[in-house]
Amino acid sequence: MSYRTHQCGEFSADAIGAEVIASGWTARKRDHGGLVFIDLRDRSGMVQLVIDPDVAPAALAVAQSARVESVLRAEGTVVARSPETVNPNMATGAVEIMVSALEELAPSDPLPFQLDDEGVDESLRIRHRALDLRRDELQRNLHVRFRVTQLIRRYLEERGFWELETPILTKSTPEGARDFVVPARLSPGAVYALPQSPQLFKQLYMMGGCERYYQIARCFRDEAQRADRQLEFTQLDVEMSFVERDDVLDLAEGLYCHLWREIAGVELPQPFPRLTHAEAMLRYGSDKPDLRYGLEISDVSDVVRGSEFAVFKGALEGGGCVRALACPGAASLSRKDLDELAEFAKEWGGKGLAYLLLDLGGEVRSPIAKFLSPDEIAAIVAATGAGEGDAVFLAADQVAIVQRVLGALRPHLAERFELADPDAWSFLYVVDFPLFGWDEDEGRWVAEHHMFTAPRREDEDRIESDPGSVLSEAYDLVINGSEIASGSIRINRPDLQERVFRTVGFSAEEAEERFGFLLRALRYGAPPHGGIAPGIDRTVMLLVGTDSIRDVIAFPKIAGGFDPLTDAPSPASPEQWRDLGLPVPPTPPPAERA
Ligand code: AMO
Ligand code: AMP
Repeated sequence: MSYRTHQCGEFSADAIGAEVIASGWTARKRDHGGLVFIDLRDRSGMVQLVIDPDVAPAALAVAQSARVESVLRAEGTVVARSPETVNPNMATGAVEIMVSALEELAPSDPLPFQLDDEGVDESLRIRHRALDLRRDELQRNLHVRFRVTQLIRRYLEERGFWELETPILTKSTPEGARDFVVPARLSPGAVYALPQSPQLFKQLYMMGGCERYYQIARCFRDEAQRADRQLEFTQLDVEMSFVERDDVLDLAEGLYCHLWREIAGVELPQPFPRLTHAEAMLRYGSDKPDLRYGLEISDVSDVVRGSEFAVFKGALEGGGCVRALACPGAASLSRKDLDELAEFAKEWGGKGLAYLLLDLGGEVRSPIAKFLSPDEIAAIVAATGAGEGDAVFLAADQVAIVQRVLGALRPHLAERFELADPDAWSFLYVVDFPLFGWDEDEGRWVAEHHMFTAPRREDEDRIESDPGSVLSEAYDLVINGSEIASGSIRINRPDLQERVFRTVGFSAEEAEERFGFLLRALRYGAPPHGGIAPGIDRTVMLLVGTDSIRDVIAFPKIAGGFDPLTDAPSPASPEQWRDLGLPVPPTPPPAERA
């Protein structure tokens, strides 16, 4: 039996008069007292079936009893719709199929939710994901996802990259999250770790002479999930030998231009702007600034150094700074709005948020105006470029806190005042990240990117004497204020790798125990190499315009790492625990089993 001569979305006036077969899901059904209309849907689109009892008496009962989402097979003739019934909103709206035979291939129970109902609880949708995936939006998202990986593969294969795999059951590859571990039955007490990324294996491929590697790689990180973070997610993992930073950046830039051209129909301006990490933090308070809008931060410490305002004075005397940004149109904010912004600043660790409101007509309103001279006010206004109708917001504190507060305020204000052009794209590279950051909690230096990232050559000799001042060969690709890709040139000499391990606090024994396999490989000649890893999920999110990573992953997890579809994670059986040589944990009371 043939199920189809055409896909549902293919029918057009060209097919009028043809005897055809179509199969698909019952998307909609209208029963006009004996004459039944069914919208039959498959992946390609929809076509209208007409079941007329005068034409096909046997088909009527099938049509009448078929529930929405049941699977049908229809035979019939393509006919032109009468002019008044042509549906311009449907790709196949000029025609319909006059059914001669109809068969229900599989029935559907009454639905747990209507596919086009926007208010359905997400966990219910995911629980019935096979149904949910039939929605146009998810179909489109999955298709874009497929196209992204397909375009990537072609692009990289044309440039000499090999697609190679790396192990999933492995040893820890630290990327700053907790590992997922798998107890090893054959080695009681020992575990495998799932890879947080293929980082070390892709480097071993370079040391193994493979020169150009890529993989569409699943990564696992046991960390809190967010709108753009899943426990398991997909990276395009890339590594290249005999390259410098700009070779990697050029490759990724070319690839992203290709993706945006092919999928979004957008010609991205090249080259992508580059900001050093220091500049990004100073001007935007963030290492992933969104440049679709201005709201640039200015340091006004020198301007207000003579001010009697206790808050400014205190910050400056304590070695901090005062920085400001101007927000267009914000002079009209109410007292309540301004109080909310001060609260927002506090949520980000600030002590408050001072402001100047520049009314139309030139008057400046501000609770702190009395502490500032007219010259000081004029200098602040000039530094921030504020004009009439704008507001200037000022934060005073330690530099890191001021950056954090104003860095968070920028996107907050941009959203509230709709400052970002929704059709614009902001692509940029952030470069020259510090190699190390000081971890207050642990009281030690930690790698800012990862421990395998090379320092800039000119900074190498300060690794021991002044780790905080060493800049690295790491870079990020930032799109519309999101970190989409990270990478670096790697360390390719064992002595340098050992120095970095020592600086982050590993003894020689610990380094050998955790990363002996890397050090061993480095001792036999590693080529200069580097790479990058763009997040595939985040890239697709941008291309389809969604804020939720769960909209671009077919089978995502929800809060708490729970999968409502399969109910994973689920308890292991006593036999499984025994096999692993582990004690059977007490069964939690049902209330605690989420
Ligand atoms: P990094 O840890 O920065 O670098 O990850 C690279 C990119 O992966 C994506 N990403 C995520 N996407 C969804 N959910 C998550 N939990 C998640 N975590 C990361 C982001 C991020 O930019 N091995 C290095 C890369 C390298 O140096 O080549 C690495 O993994 O888009
Ligand atoms: P206060 O003296 O605490 O009443 O604050 C006076 C104004 O300064 C209020 O608008 C506060 O929100 C603001 N303010 C307080 N602390 C800071 C700070 N660290 N940086 C900027 N503004 C602040």
